[in-house]
Amino acid sequence: MIRITRKYRFSASHRLHAAALADEQNRELYGKCDNPYGHGHNYEIAVSARGPLDPRSGRILDPALLDRLVEAHVLRPFDHRNLNEEIPEFRNSVPTTENLAAEIFRRLETHWKSAFPGNGPSLEKVSIAETPRNIFEVWQIHGQA
Ligand code: NI
Repeated sequence: MIRITRKYRFSASHRLHAAALADEQNRELYGKCDNPYGHGHNYEIAVSARGPLDPRSGRILDPALLDRLVEAHVLRPFDHRNLNEEIPEFRNSVPTTENLAAEIFRRLETHWKSAFPGNGPSLEKVSIAETPRNIFEVWQIHGQA
C-alpha cells in the first residue's frame, strides 16, 4: 500500500454560535469567535488516499481525478462563502473546524466511488488547518469514518 496526500486551500468565513445556547453562554464558550459578523480563515486541507500501485502507470491514483473531485465537492461550494449562511449542513450545526472537517470527509466519501471505481485507491484521511496552530483530522478506520 502507498499513501498519497494532496493539498488544497480555500477561504471562508464563519461564526461560532450554537442556536441551542443563550447569547451569554455562546460568548462564554466561543469568545471572539462568536462575534456577530463573523471572521474569515484561509483553510488548508490535505486529502490522503491509500491504494495499491497500478503497475501500468506506476501511480496509485490520477491526481487530476482527485483534483476534480475536491474542486467539485469542496472548493467550489466552500470557497469565499459564509459557512453558516451558505452551507445547508451548517444551518443546524456550528461550523467549527471539527464539523467542517467531518463534512468535507463525508462529501468526499459520498462521491469517492464515482471518481475512483473498482479496487483503486480509498479515501483515508482529511486534515484541515484553520490556522498554523489549529489542525484537525478525520480518518477512516477499517472502513468506518
Ligand atoms: Ni474561526
